[in-house]
Amino acid sequence: MKKTMQPAAGIKVKVILNGPYKVTGDVPLRLETIGTTVHKESEKWIPGKSFPATEQPFYLCRCGHSKNKPFCDSTHKTIHFDGTETAGHIPYVEAADIMEGPDMLLTDVQGLCAFARFCDPNGQVWNMVNDTDDPAVHAQFIKQVGACPSGRLVAWDKATKTPIEPELKPAIGIIEDPSKGVSGPLWLQGGIEITGADGVPYEVRNRVTLCRCGASANKPFCDGSHASIGFKDGL
Ligand code: FES
Repeated sequence: MKKTMQPAAGIKVKVILNGPYKVTGDVPLRLETIGTTVHKESEKWIPGKSFPATEQPFYLCRCGHSKNKPFCDSTHKTIHFDGTETAGHIPYVEAADIMEGPDMLLTDVQGLCAFARFCDPNGQVWNMVNDTDDPAVHAQFIKQVGACPSGRLVAWDKATKTPIEPELKPAIGIIEDPSKGVSGPLWLQGGIEITGADGVPYEVRNRVTLCRCGASANKPFCDGSHASIGFKDGL
């Protein structure tokens, strides 16, 4: 199984040591809200307000404490933010658990979970994969897996071992989760290249979520801790 993609042209994100994310390039920055059903199940992404960058490069808060979110205001210095990166560089497919259904595969790297919960409706994708020879389940499975913002979950065509990814133009989403009353990570879409503070690039993926609450134990990636600490950005 191979899962490689070309990096988005002209856009880069650099993790600054114990500081913000430095963003270079012309990339849309906007709210992305988790829309839910009446039963509070994650159903769709709702794009919202844009935050045009007024300078290049621009810096996005990583510690969770800026008073000028989503941008950095240097508060990380006064709070002595420890932004040590702990995620490592194991490629996604090497880290993933694989679940096999009749038509499709599901790969899962649990440590990347951003707690967006698109996996849960309709009996959960880990069970749905077993019924992917049913066309209706097949389509719904691809939709739910593709909505996972972190790319923790990936659907694959079983016969060709090809990942089925949503078409995402390069953009940075600022996730809001009103049904849980919290704010979530930055959602990097469309293969934006991320380089660690040590200068080593992370694997380029179509969907990535970066921690902006400061609490992830898997920095720079989100691990869902924003929900347990009740992170709110006030945007
Ligand atoms: S934003 Fe999700 S763990 Fe920090």
